[in-house]
Amino acid sequence: MTTPQTILSGIQPTNQITLGNYLGALKNWVKLQQQYRCYFAVVDLHSLVTARGGGELAANSWYALATYLAAGINPAQACLFVQSHIAAHCELAWILNCFTWMGELGRMTQFKDKSVKEGANIPAGLFNYPVLMAADILLYQAALVPVGEDQRQHLELTRTLAQRLNKHCGQPLFKVPAPYIAPVGAKIMDLRYPHIKMSKTATHADGVIFLSDDADTISRKIKRATTDSGRDISYDPDNKPGVSNLLVMQAVLLDLPLAEVCSRYQEQSYGKLKSDTADVVVAALRDIQGKINTLLADRTSLRRILDTGSAQAQATAQQTLNRVRDTLGLLPLT
Ligand code: TYM
Repeated sequence: MTTPQTILSGIQPTNQITLGNYLGALKNWVKLQQQYRCYFAVVDLHSLVTARGGGELAANSWYALATYLAAGINPAQACLFVQSHIAAHCELAWILNCFTWMGELGRMTQFKDKSVKEGANIPAGLFNYPVLMAADILLYQAALVPVGEDQRQHLELTRTLAQRLNKHCGQPLFKVPAPYIAPVGAKIMDLRYPHIKMSKTATHADGVIFLSDDADTISRKIKRATTDSGRDISYDPDNKPGVSNLLVMQAVLLDLPLAEVCSRYQEQSYGKLKSDTADVVVAALRDIQGKINTLLADRTSLRRILDTGSAQAQATAQQTLNRVRDTLGLLPLT
C-alpha cells in the first residue's frame, strides 16, 4: 500500500468563519480527509497581523477549532492544531524570509489591497504574511493545499520558495505543493457588493454570512442581497455576479452541478431564488451551528484534541526544520 500524500490548510481566526471560508475551503477539507494525510491549522499568528490579538482572538481560535470539527473534520483522521503552538513555523518563516525577494512580496495582491486599508503604519507582518504561510505548508511536506481562489498567488510564491531552496541546497528539502481550488465555490462573493469576495473583515456585515449568524439573520441578508439588472436567472459571473453567487451557494451546498441548479430557475423570479437560497443555507448551517455550540461547551475535549494534534504536528514540523537547519549550516541543537 502506498503512503497517502499530505494536505495542509488553515483558516485565520480573525472574526468568525464565513460562508465563503466554509464553501471555499472547509467543505473541501472534509471531502479530502479520507484520501490524504491531513493537517488543518487554526492560523492564529496570521490573525495577529490585522486583528492585533486579545480575548477576541482566543475566543475566535476556539470557535474555529469547533467549526472544523462541527463541519465534519474527524480528529482521528486529521491532525488539528494551532499554528502558534508549533514554534517551527516562525523559525522556518525567518529562514524563508532570507530567500524571499522584496519585489515578490510587494507584488502580492492581498498585500496591495490590505495595505491601503492600514494607512500610514503598515505592519511588516502584512508584507511577510505569505512567507509564514509558505512555512506552514512546507514544514509538513504538503502535496496539496485546499484553498479558495484568493490564495492562488500565495501558493505560487510557496512553490517558488520550495524550488528555490531545493536548488540552493542541492537536495529536495521540500515537496513542491499544488493548490487544490474547487471549480465551483472557490470565490463566494459579498452579498451586498457582489463584485468583491465575501470577507471576514468586510465593511458591511450585511454582505457576509458568518457561520454564527442565526436563521433570521441569514435569511434577511440573503433576501436583501444585491441582484442584477434584467430578470432572467443564469450563471454569468461577469454580468450577473449577484445572481451567480446565489446559484453557486446552492450548487455547493446541495452538491449539485451548477447547470442543474440553473435549470430550476428558468421561469422563476429573483425573489424565489433568494428565498430558496436562504432556505438551503439555513438548513445546511443549522446542524453545524448546533454542533459548534456543543463542542464549545466542552473545552476539556477540545483541549485534548489540540494536545494530540500538536504533538503530531510538532514531530513532523521539527523533522523538516532540522533538515533545513543542518543543510544551511546552523549548528545542531545538541
Ligand atoms: P482566510 O482565513 O482568509 O481564509 C480561509 C480559507 O477560506 C478561503 N476563502 C474563500 N473561499 C471562497 N470564497 C470566499 N469568499 C473566501 N474567503 C476566504 C481562503 O481562500 C482560504 O482557503 N492565508 C490564508 C490562511 C493560511 C493558510 C496557510 C491557508 C495561513 N497559512 C497555509 C492554507 C495553507 C487565509 O488568509 O485564509
